[in-house]
Parts: sequence; structure tokens; C-alpha cells
Amino acid sequence: MSEPSVHQGTSEAGSADSIILRVEGVHKSFRTGGSTVHALRGVSLEARRGEFIAIMGASGSGKSTLIHLIGGLDLPDQGRIVVEDHDISRLSDRQRTLFRRRRLGIIFQAYNLLPTLTAAENVALPLLVDGAAGTEIETRTIEAIRQVHLEARATHRPQAMSGGEQQRVAIARALLNNPALVLADEPTGNLDSKYAHEIWALLQRIAAEGHRTVIMVTHEAAAASFANRVIVLKDGEIIGQIRPEEAGNATLVAGRYQELTS
Ligand SMILES: Nc1ncnc2c1ncn2[C@@H]1O[C@H](COP(=O)(O)OP(=O)(O)OP(=O)(O)O)[C@@H](O)[C@H]1O
Ligand SMILES: [Mg+2]
Repeated sequence: MSEPSVHQGTSEAGSADSIILRVEGVHKSFRTGGSTVHALRGVSLEARRGEFIAIMGASGSGKSTLIHLIGGLDLPDQGRIVVEDHDISRLSDRQRTLFRRRRLGIIFQAYNLLPTLTAAENVALPLLVDGAAGTEIETRTIEAIRQVHLEARATHRPQAMSGGEQQRVAIARALLNNPALVLADEPTGNLDSKYAHEIWALLQRIAAEGHRTVIMVTHEAAAASFANRVIVLKDGEIIGQIRPEEAGNATLVAGRYQELTS
């Protein structure tokens, strides 16, 4: 494959229900010492533009492994992951890095902000690394900060912000390149429930209004109830889905999750 065919700013292209992500028969094992852990055993799923999908499962069920593979941070042993028509296993390391930076937004439990930079500077950092022009950096940073409603905190440093605000800075940074696909691995793991609700609602809005696909890993039925659909993993396999008519209600999600996993 030739030099990066990855591009920016195409997330408005295509119809509203187009498929952004295809995970096809993905397996992943880790060898540590003498033993092998089968973290994923044949996982397949599809995600459409504008969908907000939650992934639930017990600790060790393979949730983070799946997010890492979808995000091109690691490669599957078997199977394919296709994001916006790019088979990410077939990209070179450099292409994959560019692809991640330009087309994906990834959010972790830790905010990973630089303490000496302001909120706006933290958001702008990926564009600075990419060598974008000053005016473009400014316009896009302001837009990303607006999307997470942090205009009033743009010049604050991380230590002067709440955990929820810091995570919103990290989300703004993830939105900077107008990604088609946003991945969040336990984004509210460090937050108390008031701030956690704000983040879940924000991710829901990013999917619905931004026409982005958002995939969020969570342990909590309350978080998953913000999603359109919940995928349940157990021992590296998808054991079921909680459908839209059940999603949206934390009690129903919790009950259905219990049924599936017990
Ligand atoms: N880099 C690695 N090296 C060795 N084993 C790993 C590695 N990454 C994950 N595993 C193993 O793969 C399995 C799935 O791990 P994973 O991190 O995907 O689980 P998870 O569902 O995200 O769990 P948690 O809810 O605790 O974050 C676990 O048994 C884990 O120990
Ligand atoms: Mg995990």
C-alpha cells in the first residue's frame, strides 16, 4: 500500500446509516511466561455512523483488548478490523499512527493532560505535532472546546479544573480532527457520579449530533444505558446484546446484563 491514504475531514461524507466499523472474526492471545491468555475468541461486530455503543463485561473479559485493536494500538492474531474502508491490519506502523491521529478519537480513564499546558494548549497538541498552520489550530481548538462546553476554562491548567472538566478537555482533544469513530475505555472510572453523568451525556451527544460512532467500555449499567446498544463480552466472546428498546433504562440494562452473564 502506498503512503497514507488516510485523510481528514470526511466524516460528513456518506449516508447517515453507513457502516463505519467492521470487526470480523477477531482473535487475540497474549503469551506471558509459559501460559497463553485468549483475550478475544472470534469477536465480530458492526457499528454505524451516529451509533453510541457500550461494551460491558467482567474484568478480564477482553474489553480493553478490543478497544486497543479497533484503535490500531495493537494487531489481531486473526480476523479483520475495517474502519471507514481501511483494513487497519494492512496499514504500515506509520500509516496506522497517522490513521489513529487523523480519523480516530481515543479517550482513556486517565486524562493524560500535560500539567504545564492550559486546557486549550492540551487540546491543540495533536495538531501542533502534525505541523498544522497556526490559524487552523486556533479555529479547530476553539470548535473542539465549544463542543465540550469548556469555553470558560480554556486558559486554565489541569490542576485548576475538576476531574470532569479534565476529562472534557481530553474529549475535546479527541474530537479535534473531526473523527468518524470515538473510542472511550472506562472514561469515567476516576469520576464521581455527578461528573460521570455529564460525560455519558456528552458522549451520547457527540454520537447523535456529531454523526460520529462512539464506542464506550464500561462496568456500569448506568453508563451503558446512555448508549443505543450494549454489547456484552464474556471470556473474550460476545455473549449477547442489549437492544435499543432495553437500552436507555439503567435498571433494564442491569437486569439483562445479569441474565446474560450469570
Ligand atoms: N498486554 C498483555 N499481556 C498479557 N496479557 C494481557 C495483556 N493485555 C490483556 N491481557 C489479558 O487479556 C485478558 C483481557 O484483558 P483486558 O484488559 O482486555 O480486559 P478488560 O475486560 O478490559 O478488563 P478490565 O475491566 O479489568 O479493564 C486478561 O486476562 C488480561 O490479563
Ligand atoms: Mg480494561
